[in-house]
Amino acid sequence: MSDDLLKKVISHAKEYGFVFPSSEIYDGLSATYDYGQNGSELKNNIKNYWWTAMVKMHENIVGIDASIFMHPATWKASGHVDAFNDPLIDNKDSKKRYRADVLIEDHIEKIRGKINKEVAKGFKRFGDDFDEVEFRKTNPNVLRNVVKIEEIEQKFKDSLGKDDLPAVKALIEELEIACPISGSKNWTEVRQFNLMFSTEMGSVAEGANTIYLRPETAQGIFVNFLNVQKTGRMKIPFGIAQIGKAFRNEIIARQFIFRMREFEQMEMQFFVKPGTQKEWFEYWKKTRIEWHNSLGLGEENYRFHDHLKMAHYADAATDIEFNFPMGFKELEGIHSRTDFDLKAHEEHSGKKLQYFDPQENKSYVPFVVETSIGLDRMFLAILSNSLKEEKLENGTERTVLALPAALAPIKVAIMPLTKKDGLPEKAKAIFDDLKLDFNCTYDEKDSPGKRYRRQDAIGTPFCVMVDHQTLEDNTVTIRDRDTMKSDRVAISELSAIIGEKVSFKSLMK
Ligand code: GAP
Repeated sequence: MSDDLLKKVISHAKEYGFVFPSSEIYDGLSATYDYGQNGSELKNNIKNYWWTAMVKMHENIVGIDASIFMHPATWKASGHVDAFNDPLIDNKDSKKRYRADVLIEDHIEKIRGKINKEVAKGFKRFGDDFDEVEFRKTNPNVLRNVVKIEEIEQKFKDSLGKDDLPAVKALIEELEIACPISGSKNWTEVRQFNLMFSTEMGSVAEGANTIYLRPETAQGIFVNFLNVQKTGRMKIPFGIAQIGKAFRNEIIARQFIFRMREFEQMEMQFFVKPGTQKEWFEYWKKTRIEWHNSLGLGEENYRFHDHLKMAHYADAATDIEFNFPMGFKELEGIHSRTDFDLKAHEEHSGKKLQYFDPQENKSYVPFVVETSIGLDRMFLAILSNSLKEEKLENGTERTVLALPAALAPIKVAIMPLTKKDGLPEKAKAIFDDLKLDFNCTYDEKDSPGKRYRRQDAIGTPFCVMVDHQTLEDNTVTIRDRDTMKSDRVAISELSAIIGEKVSFKSLMK
């Protein structure tokens, strides 16, 4: 996996209508992207698959769609006004701004690079007899660098934990970290920068109020907890799910759609009886990884990363990391958020947010286990994992997007072999019939080979070819994207053949 693959994914995404830089005619806007004709279909299919698995498949989970703007007190209660910060530092010579933690992490990465070089040397020297585990345990250079990393991490954690920003700057100076642009070590003080975007509601004359664009969708769920519980007569344990936009003024937004300033989250808050949260945390870890595995992107491409240092509201937290082109990175978070949010909203609103438990015959503030996945990151995981360049037996190459068939933007392309002899009319009649069930496209331009390649590149699982035999016996050939094999089948069978392969059921099996 490499930068090269990420570059290929970005250019493929643009060339085939998946993702464009936002407002490109004005040279784009940093860290914002637009989903094109194929990208928006793929994105909708991912949303639907998540919604189906979370809401439709769980009798005790319902969905909502809360507004992006919320009362400003929401963000005071949630802790975002006071604590949703990144530590920033500027280089006085290049005038470039950096996240202090990223500078330090990059420095640590360089030390890790030295360790890997040492290990590679060992491999070279000892060949097949090389025992990497033993080497890492005993080689003095490796051990020295491991200790160095541990010391830096400890110092950094301690200073941030105490909100001691001068100590963070001192660490950057001690490590002699230089600005990658100017090469100088002429740094400003470190200061905290709040990641929420703010705007004003109402006219200035009326006395406008500062409000925020939500940095997570979760709070829209918490403030509606009682509305949904009462009107839906929900019994604990139950969940509320939501898909929607979130906004963060990320300082270092990079790596394509991995880290954006406007992105989409798919979140679910699961309300449980206090004391049972550990068990539900484990349940959701298992359930969510099963969902990921059902997509067939390769179980080896996922791993859990448990948080050692918890956010102030959590008593357990883990990330599901995915093997992106840039390496393993966070794709989804599963957090046991205790009763922190509901209690904070009770305090700030003065309203009770409690559940009357008929079995216990008492009211309490439920605990919450949250699953939170970035839709754009899921999109990138699927796109980068599916993009393949294959060498074919006849010596040619093809680019294929081997998307899970159920998520493909277009499920079937219908093509007449030639543009005459009544073949287009017959093909269009099939198209009109199938389009009620599937997202279809009609294509009569260029040679069949070129048309197949176009569909391979956007991940269309099936191509249906109408030829002269079709006019005689109402059969067509259906070509499978992955095997590239064509079978002759009756037109009347098409819907069932395609339906079986592209339904969510086929993934959930
Ligand atoms: N409600 C919990 C929450 O928001 P988070 O770990 O901050 O937790 C959840 O975000 C998920 O949202 C992440 O795992 C990631 O997939 C996605 N995400 C967060 N920031 C993002 C960004 N700037 N761009 C794209 N996706 C992002």
